[in-house]
Amino acid sequence: MSVRKGSLLIIDDEKEIVESLEELLKSAGYQTNTALCAEEGLQKLGREPFDLVLLDVNLPDSNGLDVLRSIKRDSPETAVIMITAYDSSQVAFQASREGAESYITKPWDNDKLLLEIRNLLDRSRLQVENILLRRALKRFGLPNIIGKSERMQRVFDLITQVAPSRATVLITGESGTGKELVAKTIHATSPRADKPFVPVNTGAMPVDLLESTLFGHVKGAFTSAIATKRGLFEVADQGTIFFDEIGTVGVETQAKLLRVIQEREFMRLGGTETIKVDVRILAATNADLKKMVQANTFREDLYYRLNVISIPLPPLRERIEDIPVLVEHFLTKYCAENGREGLTFSPEAMKLLMDHDWPGNVRELENAVERAVILASGPLIGTEALPDQVLENHRCSAPGHAPQEMEGRSLFDIVEEFERKTIMDMLARSGWSQTEAADRFKIPLSTLNQKIKRLRIDIKQHRGT
Ligand SMILES: Nc1ncnc2c1ncn2[C@@H]1O[C@H](COP(=O)(O)OP(=O)(O)OP(=O)(O)O)[C@@H](O)[C@H]1O
Ligand SMILES: [Mg+2]
Repeated sequence: MSVRKGSLLIIDDEKEIVESLEELLKSAGYQTNTALCAEEGLQKLGREPFDLVLLDVNLPDSNGLDVLRSIKRDSPETAVIMITAYDSSQVAFQASREGAESYITKPWDNDKLLLEIRNLLDRSRLQVENILLRRALKRFGLPNIIGKSERMQRVFDLITQVAPSRATVLITGESGTGKELVAKTIHATSPRADKPFVPVNTGAMPVDLLESTLFGHVKGAFTSAIATKRGLFEVADQGTIFFDEIGTVGVETQAKLLRVIQEREFMRLGGTETIKVDVRILAATNADLKKMVQANTFREDLYYRLNVISIPLPPLRERIEDIPVLVEHFLTKYCAENGREGLTFSPEAMKLLMDHDWPGNVRELENAVERAVILASGPLIGTEALPDQVLENHRCSAPGHAPQEMEGRSLFDIVEEFERKTIMDMLARSGWSQTEAADRFKIPLSTLNQKIKRLRIDIKQHRGT
């Protein structure tokens, strides 16, 4: 940040006042400019940015409050101190409602005024970053990340704090909690926003392919390498690379990744030339990397490199106050997509949505809303438009919690239903990966596979949703 003290504009029609203020501010080291009427002031504001404006309430050609309004509209990062002729709390109140940071009455105390200016400039410097972020969000038309819960507010704060830097960020959370959305938002609100955002799904790729995808290869490096190819690290130069499912990267590739993160350089497969890149690294996982480190399946040094800053995303069931706002958001989205208007959920349907456990988190909720919009026959969406699992599964009712539901059924039947629900939940939480679900259940994959077959759980139906 530059060491300049700040640039100030004085807008006042009384010449003596302008001159004495100018002298005071200049002697305090500020860069100062002046205007004797509203029009001149607004012209100067349009030509160059000012950190702070001292603005007279009574101007010959306009009301100072109107000028204040246009300053706050066109350059909200500029702080404004209103100057009033007499102590009028009415004007002061109005000015602060319109966004003025402070006001002074004539005659003023020089020391107090200088102190006030210094405080405001310090404060506004901190705010500028946030304003830039919000602007970037608008400019890139990102789908908003919705959430009014305290836990999501904490996530938003973290995003705002980490976006301006190049720090590596590890985003953790169950399947469907919004990890990719958060990664995109960090990129879109960072200084790299107009450079590439390159997602890499490490989970789906065998080791060799992953390495040539990331680092590229030279002609002849392997049989099918008929031409030299740039890897994604080169594609992402100046921008951001996002490693989705980082927990699935094999140990060999982990070593290479560690080197790129540390040195920001690598070689193409089969190549001899070292390539340097400036890439910001974001990673996401729904696996417990710490546990993987203990089990020696994930390198500890890589874990610490990635986990410089971590953003944990809470599961939806731990922030049910977000459900109504998310439902509203997705309703608007899917009504627009399907050419429908004014749909709402009936209170009973809304209650079921609130009561559901959402093992697939926001993605599952989004799918349920989309489905309901398509199935809805009238403006009011009833419970019949909700998917079976929402109708059945009221906040993970363990057997024994609802005795009336067990009446007249065999033990075998009840246990089987519970087993089915539990396995479905875990699969949804694991992104429908059987390997991961078996891991979390601490049972062999083959055992889980048998159970899935016996219980006739249809995984294909859920994959890729
Ligand atoms: N807070 C949110 N506000 C609005 N939409 C959200 C929010 N969180 C998630 N979504 C939406 O839910 C869907 C799933 O989000 P995303 O793909 O980012 O999740 P994920 O954590 O990466 O899931 P997975 O682990 O399965 O890859 C996306 O369509 C995303 O836009
Ligand atoms: Mg994802």
